[in-house]
Amino acid sequence: MIRGAASLREGAVAVLETPAPADKIALTHDLAAAWRVGTLPLGPAVTAPPRPARPPKPELRLPRDMPKRRSAGSVASRVALLHALAHIELNALDLAWDLIARFGAENSPRGFYDDWLRVADEEATHHGLLAERLAHYRAAYGDLPAHDGLWQAAETTAHDLLARLAVVPLVLEARGLDVTPVMIASLDKAGDTASADVLRVIYRDEIGHVAIGRRWFDALCATHGVEPEGTYQELVRRHFRGKLKRPFNTAARDEAGLPAGFYEVLAGDVDETNAA
Ligand SMILES: [Fe+2]
Ligand SMILES: [Fe+2]
Repeated sequence: MIRGAASLREGAVAVLETPAPADKIALTHDLAAAWRVGTLPLGPAVTAPPRPARPPKPELRLPRDMPKRRSAGSVASRVALLHALAHIELNALDLAWDLIARFGAENSPRGFYDDWLRVADEEATHHGLLAERLAHYRAAYGDLPAHDGLWQAAETTAHDLLARLAVVPLVLEARGLDVTPVMIASLDKAGDTASADVLRVIYRDEIGHVAIGRRWFDALCATHGVEPEGTYQELVRRHFRGKLKRPFNTAARDEAGLPAGFYEVLAGDVDETNAA
């Protein structure tokens, strides 16, 4: 038994109901380790809370009220970047647990839990690595406001695993693959190799997360007898507001098993890097 969690599903709810990031991370690593060695049972079905518990800080603001991020040239801009990414990783951690708690079924194969627990475990590591980089700058997660739009994707897809997979790993995490190399280059240029190295770890892992998203999206499409590409496009149009942004990192997306035929038709016409 791990700190009140007698099963993986109980553990999922425990993480979601834990407010402090450090506690969420420690509990996640404990649960993942116990699951890996086979000492943690799946347990009976649970009810996922509508929103995860969060610490009193950061203050959550609407995306439009967030200050614009700039390149990583100054310490303040690097702290802002690391803080924004730490917030994204904490959301990603809760999203992985929400997926386990909400969508894990009795007949889901063990590989389903293995994969999403791996994602949760890696998101916990990502948040922790970014928190260390913030500490290097004598800053901490919670010091700055953070945007409150991230859980929206969870809420709009809470009824449907196929929609959740289309929007979270196959739109949002895939978008991370597009933008992270630019951030890495900017941190390297500013001389912050340690933060760039953290982003290189995250980038590698996130290719895996998109690949896991694709694998389970395909498995579920096969179960429903529907074709993945058109189903993806229909779900993204229905559940994701706006067009997908160019430029795409097609090499990383290809490596994750997400070919251009899936997303090209969903893209806006403007190249956002040049449009600023
Ligand atoms: Fe991550
Ligand atoms: Fe991820």
